[in-house]
Amino acid sequence: MKQMEDKMCFNSEAYEVKTCELDGKCVTYRAYENLVYCANPVDPIQKMNLYVPEILAQGGTINGYTIKTAPIFMPNSVGGYMPGTAETPGRDFKGRSNTVFEALLHGYVVASAGVRGRTTGTVSDEFFIGGNTGKDISETGKMTGRAPALIVDMKAAIRYLRYNKERVPGDVERIITNGTSAGGALSAMAGASGNSRDYETYLQAIGAADERDDIFAASCYCPIHNLENADMAYEWLFQGQNDFHKMDFREVEGQIRPVPVSGTMTEAEQALSMELKKLFPAYVNSLNLRDVQGNLLTLDQEGHGSFEELVKQYILESAQRKLDHPEEEIRQMPARGSDIRQQEGLTITEGKAVAVDLPAYVKTITRMKKTPAFDALDLRSPENEEFGTETIFARHFTAFSKEHSAVGGNMAEEAVIKLLNPTRYIGKADTAKHWRIRHGSFDRDTSLAIPVILAVMLQNAGCHVDFHLPWGLPHSGDYDLPQLFAWIDEIISNPLTTSQTK
Ligand code: DHB
Repeated sequence: MKQMEDKMCFNSEAYEVKTCELDGKCVTYRAYENLVYCANPVDPIQKMNLYVPEILAQGGTINGYTIKTAPIFMPNSVGGYMPGTAETPGRDFKGRSNTVFEALLHGYVVASAGVRGRTTGTVSDEFFIGGNTGKDISETGKMTGRAPALIVDMKAAIRYLRYNKERVPGDVERIITNGTSAGGALSAMAGASGNSRDYETYLQAIGAADERDDIFAASCYCPIHNLENADMAYEWLFQGQNDFHKMDFREVEGQIRPVPVSGTMTEAEQALSMELKKLFPAYVNSLNLRDVQGNLLTLDQEGHGSFEELVKQYILESAQRKLDHPEEEIRQMPARGSDIRQQEGLTITEGKAVAVDLPAYVKTITRMKKTPAFDALDLRSPENEEFGTETIFARHFTAFSKEHSAVGGNMAEEAVIKLLNPTRYIGKADTAKHWRIRHGSFDRDTSLAIPVILAVMLQNAGCHVDFHLPWGLPHSGDYDLPQLFAWIDEIISNPLTTSQTK
């Protein structure tokens, strides 16, 4: 025990002063890099970088924050359920100044933890798409990054900060996680499942500190989560759209390149789509979701009802915000076909978005994935790999796909499936009080129903939720950092704000 405590002790003197200049903006900071946040790591990625603006370190303030009061912003770099390395101030993979840099400029302490992912321990040339055959597992490599490794690592990093609360810069009671897509799901898992005992054996196995792991707030961009219900949610929205269009990211001559993939679903796939769609109402109805007036949100057997009306309302609110603020600054190109003045699915009368025809809207945004969208019958989706084990390359995680498996695949344990689903912990663990959820209205990586369910469940549990579908945006994140930081500043200055949506 003594030895673990020594290993985990943060040395506040062990820093380097660095400066980063990007696009005419400059920040000087103390860099504490490669902090091993657990006593028994199993992979070199399990390290954290911790940064504090030099102005705060020298006793100054930025935006009213001091070295003691500054929130700890915790972005992750996870995508595609792959490993996410600890980040440094610089540019993100799209060439934009990254969240670490921008957060330091804004006066936050930044903690970026590297976490394991589905390809940990393997050599892989794929990017986001899954379907690697697993034959090139490296000699030393054990696939130690499978579910629930990513959230176990994030919790261990959070516990490390708490363990060192007297020594680290920033306020460990004001930790805000941030991520996009699978990283958004990770942020949601951290937000929903604070202090749940379910993760304990995994945390002990890597020697995580014996500390709390709940957080103050979670920021989630297009979280690809609730995976065991996502296939039916996808078909609830996209059934009837049989053509699919997507970009696969593959390494071509040493560079990650997008490769367009299009096709039409076979008759067998179309039949599966109908079957999956029929399963969705029972799931939604089982949740007992309520709108802000307290009315139940339900679906009938055909998939119509008050829940569908709520999804439509969020699309209309999205369109209205675009109509009211056409020039809002966003660091993300809108999706093709999203020009607000040319939407067949929308009725706009005198500048007001008054109606949306959901099938026409869905036809405009188009289907991205063929059915089943997540639990592939051939086990070749990223999520199938995420639910693999150290020795089994990929597994199913829905009864439906297990039953229809084309390869006689195994099923992941129910307990592991649960560990990866933030919605199953809302209100049942020490769930963060503050949530900001963004999902582009043209994002087809998961059904629009999925973020709506997350937002409503959180509202129903009494959380303060800022949820919005930014008009026309595809699958993306970190595009509105000034607005994200304004939200963080607001919840910090007024932490008691309760149930409200914007
Ligand atoms: C991501 C995207 C997906 O479509 C998916 O199924 C899983 C992860 C991502 O961008 O992280």
